[in-house]
Amino acid sequence: MITIAVTNQKGGEGKTTTSINLADSLARRNKKTILLDTDPQGNSSSIYTSNFEKTIYDIYQNKSLKLLDILQATEKQNLFIAPSSQRLAEMESISGNNVDAPFFLRDALDGIGNFDFCVIDCPPSLSIFTINALVASNFVLVPLQAEKFSVDGIIGLQQTITSIKKRINPNLEVIGALITQLKPQTLLTKTIIPILDKYYHVFNTSISDGVAIGESHLARCSLYDYNKKCRQSKEYEDFTEEILNELKK
Ligand SMILES: Nc1ncnc2c1ncn2[C@@H]1O[C@H](COP(=O)(O)OP(=O)(O)O)[C@@H](O)[C@H]1O
Ligand SMILES: [Mg+2]
Repeated sequence: MITIAVTNQKGGEGKTTTSINLADSLARRNKKTILLDTDPQGNSSSIYTSNFEKTIYDIYQNKSLKLLDILQATEKQNLFIAPSSQRLAEMESISGNNVDAPFFLRDALDGIGNFDFCVIDCPPSLSIFTINALVASNFVLVPLQAEKFSVDGIIGLQQTITSIKKRINPNLEVIGALITQLKPQTLLTKTIIPILDKYYHVFNTSISDGVAIGESHLARCSLYDYNKKCRQSKEYEDFTEEILNELKK
């Protein structure tokens, strides 16, 4: 199984939108996929239902639970969800004094077998939940807007990735940065992309700014299910192909 942490400690950069649509797109390509929501806000879980019996909270609460114990099937054949819960926020401080704290998710995923992808939607912070995601992942995917403050935030994220790679997870790699909410070519975009390029591989596909995204969230579905002909849906399809090609390298 390939595990991808969709991470950026800044809020509003497109982590949830990207996680939902990447997981959906992989599942449609016959990849058995888990969408794992580790943000206490539970935005990506809410696309599927709001009534989950067991959630990621239980994984942090009970070390013997495995991810399979909380996994829920969706109406899509290849898509499974590991849902979050607002209660997850309670674990943020508790896990601070526990030496096992960075490893809860990795332990829960251990031995999961028979899945192709796990896409982790991270919270907008470098909290213990993001650390757990980075420890448990093979790859980091960084969605961000082409704006100065978004690029500034990358430096903090990069330091965290470097130390996790050095101390705990040497195989962790940044698969790339995905520009989201792209406005028509502005001077800002033209200057920011070359700066970003120095840090990360930037995907050729960008996700343009458009109302279909917010509308699909309201309709509680993926962009493809909302309107597969809309521009952003096509862009997420292209982006998924790019990721799959990148992984073949
Ligand atoms: N390409 C886009 N075009 C327009 N709005 C977008 C786009 N991507 C995300 N948004 C909106 O921006 C907000 C933040 O996106 P979200 O995916 O929730 O980011 P994050 O999970 O990083 O906080 C949401 O209201 C979402 O609808
Ligand atoms: Mg989010």
